[in-house]
Amino acid sequence: MPHNREQELMGLRINACLASVCLLALTTAFTPAFAEGVGIAAPASSVVATVQSPDGQLQVDVSIDGEGRAAYEVKRKGIEVISPSRLGFVLTNGPKLDGRFTLGSTSSTTHDDTWEQPWGERRFVRDHYNEVRVDLVQAAYDNRRMTIVFRVFDDGVGFRYEFPDQAQLHDVKISEELTEFAVADKATALWALGGELSNLEYLYKQTPLDEVSQAQTPMTIKTEDGTYIAFHEAALVDYPAMWIRRVDGQRLRTQLAPSAIGPAAVRMAPFTTPWRTMIITDNASALLTSNIELNLNEPNKLGDVSWVKPYKYVGIWWEMHLEKSTWASGPKHGATTENTKKYMDFAAKNGFHGVLVEGWNKGWDGTWYGDGKDFSFTEAYPDFDIKALSAYGLKKGVHLIGHHETGGNIAHYEDQMEDAFRLDESLGIDSVKTGYVHEFGAAQMKAPDGSIFYGNTDSQQAVEHYLKNVVTAAKYHVAIDTHEPVKDTGLRRTYPNWVSREGARGQEYNAWGNPINPPEHDVNLVFTRMLSGPMDYTPGVLSLEGNKKDLLSTQAKQLALYVVLYSPIQMAADLPENYAKYPKAFQFIKDVAVDWDQSLVLNGEIGDYVTFARKDRHSDKWFLGAITDDNARILLAPLAFLSPGVTYTAEIYRDGPNADLKGDARFDIVIEKQNVTSTDTLSLKLAPGGGEAIRFVPQGKAK
Ligand code: NOJ
Ligand code: CA
Repeated sequence: MPHNREQELMGLRINACLASVCLLALTTAFTPAFAEGVGIAAPASSVVATVQSPDGQLQVDVSIDGEGRAAYEVKRKGIEVISPSRLGFVLTNGPKLDGRFTLGSTSSTTHDDTWEQPWGERRFVRDHYNEVRVDLVQAAYDNRRMTIVFRVFDDGVGFRYEFPDQAQLHDVKISEELTEFAVADKATALWALGGELSNLEYLYKQTPLDEVSQAQTPMTIKTEDGTYIAFHEAALVDYPAMWIRRVDGQRLRTQLAPSAIGPAAVRMAPFTTPWRTMIITDNASALLTSNIELNLNEPNKLGDVSWVKPYKYVGIWWEMHLEKSTWASGPKHGATTENTKKYMDFAAKNGFHGVLVEGWNKGWDGTWYGDGKDFSFTEAYPDFDIKALSAYGLKKGVHLIGHHETGGNIAHYEDQMEDAFRLDESLGIDSVKTGYVHEFGAAQMKAPDGSIFYGNTDSQQAVEHYLKNVVTAAKYHVAIDTHEPVKDTGLRRTYPNWVSREGARGQEYNAWGNPINPPEHDVNLVFTRMLSGPMDYTPGVLSLEGNKKDLLSTQAKQLALYVVLYSPIQMAADLPENYAKYPKAFQFIKDVAVDWDQSLVLNGEIGDYVTFARKDRHSDKWFLGAITDDNARILLAPLAFLSPGVTYTAEIYRDGPNADLKGDARFDIVIEKQNVTSTDTLSLKLAPGGGEAIRFVPQGKAK
């Protein structure tokens, strides 16, 4: 095992090596970043375990200091990227799990397998890591035990805490998790506020890391030496979501979403926490192809999920956001039988799988947001004949897509959830979009004693609800697309009917947002929110018209978003009459695939630009999408991903020579065909706020 000079000088003794996982004797010292107090000598720390990535580039050292506090440190190519950082908890029903620890035992494993996704950005996912388990004991407190497990991949690190069952610590009531991330090199962060009042729907900021307050995850940083790190969590189950709070300098600490009815996290041992994750790479593009979030989740627990199908859809949706019709009943009601038939005809004609209908059910009249007490999830408004419509659609191969807006009233929704999904299944409704529009981060939930309380949508109780919703839907073969969700942490691997979600500012802000989405927003999403999983962004507004303002996007960029912002369900968000105005550009939306065999990133930089190439899972076609911020750029796209020796027709939708962010210039699009092979490199000329979309269709073998 390669060990660096620093370790040699410190005289580390290697006790045991398995693959590149080594357990080290306690001999050396470093100063933990969390040692506080001026002039007080920091207690000496001893490395108790070390583990390297399979390629040997990343290394995690776990240590215990003179006061028995556990910490970890991460090095990349021998250089510290995460300085010694604290691990532990504050409990409300017992002494802290922080300090007075000694090492119980350590063990290590190595793992390498490849699994298949039922749908996704890629068909096969390799799960290759080295793992070390470190058992800690608090002799002073009745030998209480806690285990910390590190998995180190070539492109990142995941670690979590395990609470073994023990009489001394059976009920675990956590007020604070102390996990820290002390970033070693000076860094810039791309981040959005976490734990704030709005439904995870903030604009991103790019600031020095030491100006971050409290961030949502994923948060992505770039250090001065060119290392990229994206902080997030995986497998968030029955535990509060994590925000990242800067405590001082570049030292970040886990901030658990609070509970309104007790300690932040309440569990019975045995249990494990979610994984704390860091994707660590030396270029921005590599962040986007990491699979560590999915790999750290449990395999599919639903069995046969062939009923979960990727698809494209249209909906009675944008017209409400434009205030052309209403969710509420009355003369402008959007969800009428007649209007739905019009959308179903449009869907059938253009090959869309589904029609989302919002405002179909009773409860939209009055102030529903943050309230939701009047919603029925089984009773339609009288001018919406749900049975007849679902039959009408199915005859044409078009599915109604259900909508359960709760107004953040989780308690009220849970009372009807089972009946609602039963109805959906009986009508052939195979997916439902849910919504939790609430205010001040507070949704209504039911406490164990039956009383109603207002709690944070990132709290342990809300995390439980979002998953219960998905698991209940699965019983009735319904897929879920959650709006105003808890963040994605890769649970689609375990519950593949959780097909998409919102969880960031989507297209809807271009209808009524103040401000609307700035040109760099979509590329910011790619390097933050999209690292967590699929997003129902709802692209494709080819009219480039919001309610009062014009979109800050070219038409070509609206097309590129289908390839750039991954989701197995993609909406064509604009009105049918607008698609009728732009039939040539609309062709790309009809043609684009939604389920991928492979996804590659050809170039990218945080907050600036990105180009994806993705291969359709069900044909030999490739698709390319490139987007930029408010700067014009020329990006090189080598086509080496195409099959060698095959000529492809590249159907190109690109910004025209006069394309720009303002007025009619946004509609300047060139649609053309070109023959290409894998040896070609395209130069993509993107306008400010622009993009490019390409479909590659193989012609047959070249000579
Ligand atoms: C917010 C969702 O994001 C949006 O898509 C939906 O139309 C409204 N809530 C109403 O449910
Ligand atoms: Ca929303």
